[in-house]
Amino acid sequence: MPGVTRGVVVTGASTGIGAAIVRHLAGRGFRVFGTVRRPEDEAALERAGVTAVRMDVTDTVSIARAREHVERALAGVPLCGLVNNAGIPAAGPLELFPLDALRRALEVNLIGAVAVTQAFLPRLKASRGRIVSFKTAIWSKVEAMDLGRYAGTPYQSVLDRFRRAALRGAEQGGSTAFRCGFPTVGSTG
Ligand SMILES: NC(=O)c1ccc[n+]([C@@H]2O[C@H](COP(=O)([O-])OP(=O)(O)OC[C@H]3O[C@@H](n4cnc5c(N)ncnc54)[C@H](OP(=O)(O)O)[C@@H]3O)[C@@H](O)[C@H]2O)c1
Repeated sequence: MPGVTRGVVVTGASTGIGAAIVRHLAGRGFRVFGTVRRPEDEAALERAGVTAVRMDVTDTVSIARAREHVERALAGVPLCGLVNNAGIPAAGPLELFPLDALRRALEVNLIGAVAVTQAFLPRLKASRGRIVSFKTAIWSKVEAMDLGRYAGTPYQSVLDRFRRAALRGAEQGGSTAFRCGFPTVGSTG
């Protein structure tokens, strides 16, 4: 792709915020890879100038395949960003909240984001790129009876700590990591 000097991977690009982010970045000259789970979601991305990559963040084989796809397509262009946007909501009254739903949310929102970050970290370190991970800050604002009060905060904390550790390892002389509004942002540069 002539003129493109930087690549970005955005997970969960089929709908919502992820779909908006990929279009925004594609309009600004990035080589954008948007991950989807269903083949029928690919065409809309391709029409918007976004390379669709199949990935389920809970499936390590699919993450590895997606990484290979991105590596091949980049062909030497640096990967400068990863947006961990894929996620599912999990909130409700604590007494009634099914544990299986909580396990699933942690698997997608926390373990999934860590797994995808691990997969792309070598490329991001090489380019001193950025990692943006969405957190469910809204959970900490809900009423005391809501599960978000109990489940959201530890989840955010763990994800933040992982991101900081990843960034520390990316630098010999210390890392720069900072929060930026709704998503948490970290820079390897
Ligand atoms: N909207 C809000 O008010 C809000 C508030 C707090 C946090 N957030 C967080 O912001 C992010 C985006 O929110 P949104 O409102 O745009 O949500 P959304 O429209 O439901 O989009 C979620 C995206 O994540 C994908 N996804 C879900 N499970 C996945 C999995 N196992 N593997 C790969 N992709 C998966 C979905 O793909 P499919 O289409 O295949 O399901 C979809 O592309 C989420 O992480 C959400 O938790 C949103």
